[in-house]
Amino acid sequence: MSSQSKPRILFSRQQIEATVRKLAAEISRDYQGKSPLLIGILKGSFMFMADLIRLLDFPLEVEFIRLSSYGRGKESSGKVKVVQGLQSPVKGKDILVIEDIVDTGLSTSFLLDYLRKKKPASLKLCALTDKPSRRQTPVTIDYLGFTVPDKFLVGYGLDLDEKFRNLPHICVLE
Ligand code: IMP
Ligand code: MG
Repeated sequence: MSSQSKPRILFSRQQIEATVRKLAAEISRDYQGKSPLLIGILKGSFMFMADLIRLLDFPLEVEFIRLSSYGRGKESSGKVKVVQGLQSPVKGKDILVIEDIVDTGLSTSFLLDYLRKKKPASLKLCALTDKPSRRQTPVTIDYLGFTVPDKFLVGYGLDLDEKFRNLPHICVLE
């Protein structure tokens, strides 16, 4: 498999749209009367974040954070660090982390620990996809879109070596 491989649709843009709508309804119900800070993990979550927040009709703020763990290719280095941090304070805020995919769980569990130390009022995780077969550390996903098989996914923000993020569907490379 390489960036020359052909993507096959796993979830179409229509399926993604319906799932994002379902997640937005759950989040809207839970955050009524609050004004959370949504933190997207770059780069993979940017498209999901953009679609999700357009369906949320309560006051909210948006931030992005960039973590490093994946080098080029498909394997995580396992060591996670913040390479581009937050501009907004977290203390006392309702924080909702937005992630494209939870794979080994190392990135999200690192980020949730990092944020918890900053004493938010609440801290939850919304992930568009979950690949539980690859988990190395437990992660609680409060709002989940799709459970996915142990295949490398691209599209709708997800990349292989920075390619394929622009595909409107979630695809498997074969
Ligand atoms: P984790 O730390 O192993 O859970 O990996 C999380 C990050 O790895 C995600 O935010 C993605 O950026 C990337 N990743 C994991 N699996 C895939 C995949 O199948 N396709 C594209 N990126 C992936
Ligand atoms: Mg990511």
